[in-house]
Amino acid sequence: MAFTEPVLLKRIPNDPSLRKIYWYDDYVATGGYAGLRKALGMTADDIIKLVIDSGLRGRGGAGFSAGQKWSFIPKEKKGPHYMAVNFDESEPGTFKDRYLCDYDPHQILEGIAIACMATQCDVAYIFIRGEYHRQAKILKRAIAEAYEKGIFGQQGILGSNFKLECYLHIGAGAYICGEETGLLEALEGKRGWPRNKPPFPAIAGAFAKPTVINNVETLALVPPIIERGAAWFKSMGTKSAAGPKLFGISGHVNNPGVYEDELGITVEYAINKLAGGMKGGKFKACIPGGTSMGVLSANELDIRLDFDDVRFRGGCLGLGTAGLIVMNEHTDMVKALRNIVRFYSHESCGQCTPCREGSAWMHKIMNRIVDGGGRPKDIDMLLELEKTQGAMPGTTICGLADATSWATRLFITKFYDEFAAACPEPKQYVPVTVRKGRDNVATPMGSNTR
Ligand SMILES: Cc1cc2nc3c(=O)[nH]c(=O)nc-3n(C[C@H](O)[C@H](O)[C@H](O)COP(=O)(O)O)c2cc1C
Ligand code: SF4
Repeated sequence: MAFTEPVLLKRIPNDPSLRKIYWYDDYVATGGYAGLRKALGMTADDIIKLVIDSGLRGRGGAGFSAGQKWSFIPKEKKGPHYMAVNFDESEPGTFKDRYLCDYDPHQILEGIAIACMATQCDVAYIFIRGEYHRQAKILKRAIAEAYEKGIFGQQGILGSNFKLECYLHIGAGAYICGEETGLLEALEGKRGWPRNKPPFPAIAGAFAKPTVINNVETLALVPPIIERGAAWFKSMGTKSAAGPKLFGISGHVNNPGVYEDELGITVEYAINKLAGGMKGGKFKACIPGGTSMGVLSANELDIRLDFDDVRFRGGCLGLGTAGLIVMNEHTDMVKALRNIVRFYSHESCGQCTPCREGSAWMHKIMNRIVDGGGRPKDIDMLLELEKTQGAMPGTTICGLADATSWATRLFITKFYDEFAAACPEPKQYVPVTVRKGRDNVATPMGSNTR
């Protein structure tokens, strides 16, 4: 079987004029909370096993098995367990979690309740980025409804023995608070600086207690898995990437938006069949899953949007959030990379020297190139910097440094001619002059000395 009907978007029609917010009663009338009712008849281990069997992998970026992550939470309870729902959604090109919340907030709350039962969490914190006022307002009302209807609160979920509290935590607005341990620090009221691991959050997370952290979309997929089973979920997608996926498609396409299909569709299919085809010119490039993942070029339209093909054939960091940014033939790839590097340099939290200094240095070089002062050795320098600052060789605390690295390497190597053209041999070499006395300053005399 392939993808035949919307799962996450079943209450959100394509036509904007038909969309409405499904509050509690509408949600229940259309089958909502059936997964939670079924889960109440299962043990925690049964729920975890079912989710592992389904092959559900996290939709927040790293693609880790959701059920396995839950199984790391200690079975023996020595104190409270916490759930942190990652609603930071700050990766450029990503807007799927907000879309779900805009129209179907209880889907998220139902997933949270089931995940908390599986991991014996006493409290769930939904961490939402500070600027998402509309979604925060919607969630506040939906949470209040869920308390009123006996989902959350000390009476126990729908009258059962399982008690769960749920709070909305509004962040101050920083990309790094989406990194799971940066999120935990921010949740505890501190600066959102990522933590060194181990210990991992499953052992010592929020307030040093076992904590599960999942993305909004990951959790929203849990109720249908409970209801319809692992085999149904695995009938969509590929062998290593099961289930449906939200694809946020933006850029030079006719119909940008959030679409649902199965994991493993090709880039070409996503652009032509989902987003209505290219706008303003032929296809040139596509960022597959938020800017941190890298870039695919015109001869990679057949790459599958799953966790492996984008990585192993496309050379990208991964699928990320599947937020596709599509670029047509008129896009200046040098300027596009400058934007990306500027973002990551600005968002670096500054704890690790390779990330803090490296990304700022790369930004400086990219500015020089875009301003017309590019030198051939700038390309080598960028490639040297990207090699030294990524977390993959183990030089930084979190993955933000990798984002800068991957984008830089892939933009330069896949669109080398454009970078080479922007970094020509200097026409004449004018050395820096150093004058004595009052004018004792190094004076840049030409663009090649900037
Ligand atoms: C710099 C950085 C930013 C991140 N931002 C987000 C985010 O906004 N939302 C999110 O769900 N995951 C984000 N992640 C991934 C989280 O660290 C974590 O892997 C994820 O929330 C786990 O949920 P999942 O297993 O359901 O995907 C980010 C990671 C990094 C390194
Ligand atoms: S890699 Fe960058 S963003 Fe991550 S902790 Fe280090 S300095 Fe901060």
